[in-house]
Amino acid sequence: MFDLPIIDSLLLKLFRFRTRAFLRMVDAPPTVPPPPAGGSGYLYVHIPFCEVLCPFCSFHRVQHRHAQAVRYFTALRTEIRLYHAAGHRFTGVYFGGGTPTTEPAELVTTIELVKALFGVTEISVETNPKDLRPEIVQPLRAAGVTRLSVGVQSFDDNLLREMERYEKYGSGAETRERIRAVAGIFPTLNVDFIFNQPHQTRASLERDLALFRTLGANQVSFYPLMTSPTVDRRMTKQMGQTDPRRLRQFYHTIVQRLAPDFAPSSAWCFTRRGHGTDEYIVAADNYVGVGSGAFSYLDGTLYCTTFSLSAYERHIAQGHTGITTCHRLRETDRLRYTLLVRLFGLHLDHASVLTQHGPQFFRKLWGELLTLRLLGAARADARGWRLNERGMFWLTLMMSAFFESVNNYRDAMRAHVKEELHESVEMCAPAANSLAPAASRE
Ligand SMILES: C[S@@+](CC[C@H](N)C(=O)[O-])C[C@H]1O[C@@H](n2cnc3c(N)ncnc32)[C@H](O)[C@@H]1O
Ligand code: SF4
Repeated sequence: MFDLPIIDSLLLKLFRFRTRAFLRMVDAPPTVPPPPAGGSGYLYVHIPFCEVLCPFCSFHRVQHRHAQAVRYFTALRTEIRLYHAAGHRFTGVYFGGGTPTTEPAELVTTIELVKALFGVTEISVETNPKDLRPEIVQPLRAAGVTRLSVGVQSFDDNLLREMERYEKYGSGAETRERIRAVAGIFPTLNVDFIFNQPHQTRASLERDLALFRTLGANQVSFYPLMTSPTVDRRMTKQMGQTDPRRLRQFYHTIVQRLAPDFAPSSAWCFTRRGHGTDEYIVAADNYVGVGSGAFSYLDGTLYCTTFSLSAYERHIAQGHTGITTCHRLRETDRLRYTLLVRLFGLHLDHASVLTQHGPQFFRKLWGELLTLRLLGAARADARGWRLNERGMFWLTLMMSAFFESVNNYRDAMRAHVKEELHESVEMCAPAANSLAPAASRE
């Protein structure tokens, strides 16, 4: 049970190989991409500012500075208006980071703008435990936020110290009190944990799970620790090395301990009433990302914006978006991307993929679909396929392989602007291939 079965490591290698093809980015014009006929889906708004830069974090984040953050939010609102003027319409909005609540007043103004332009009613915001204060939380609820997601990572004080979160965001006990105080305010209150941290034991994970259930939060996301070369170096120094052989056992513990009250709504998100999801990419076929270091996926093309905050401000001041790179996925990769995202959301609805891609979806992906079947990852239901626990675990591996490709790309892009990002540790050299197209430096 402690050994990662050979099949898991073979699949992980295959997923890594396949997902690399999704991110062969090349230089792109900074114009607004055309809205897809089927709708623009979700709007993702990236806020890169954080009070502390956690050593394990693989996202595009930068030390918070008030004046820079205010300018950034102003640019964001201009970019959002640009998408509106070009005809994009969204069904929901997700403010992610970094930490969107580092500038609460700017955040509320931006939420109000998104509501006024697009009439969205699903509004999700990420935050940290320290920001769960009435003066931040109440205006967010009043502005219509329907889902608040709190990064906790663990309640284990030793792990929190290793993660450099104990001092800034408080002990496990303090965090639990803050979560209890906001439970019930938002329709969905999500708590993020990271599993398979280097010094995490099964007992520590079990304790986190038991404590989580006492809080009144109705959603929980358990992310496997995902790395990239830069994160690996920082993390190994501060937290030690992670052991992939424990992933399966930890995942099984999570699923078992959360059942039956919490049902999976994606491979790594569990919701009390069995509805809702954590990932905007699961909620919609298309999404637009605005801000610095944000990805969009529109009609089979991935776009990414500049990782330089000053270049982002300049682009917006010139009437452009922040887009600097894109990659038009090959037809088979587009189908694979749909398969990945749908299965991550636990269902493969035959009618809906037929509408989106036609019969070629089944013709071209017969190998992938047969493998899933032979591996016993899914069972057929009236509408298509539904993943079982085994399949959910593989989807967790697949999705983390995809996010690790994204992390590698972020590493390469952030290396170009490391002085500006105030990185205190040496970052990896940018890849000498298409991962680091020239224009993206600006
Ligand atoms: C972008 S953060 C926003 C939350 C907030 N900034 C905080 O940390 O309190 C969203 C979540 O990503 C997850 N995350 C960050 N780095 C990760 C990594 N290397 N592997 C897995 N999950 C990670 C954490 O669970 C975190 O709460
Ligand atoms: S985990 Fe959250 S607080 Fe820590 S650096 Fe990442 S985004 Fe910022």
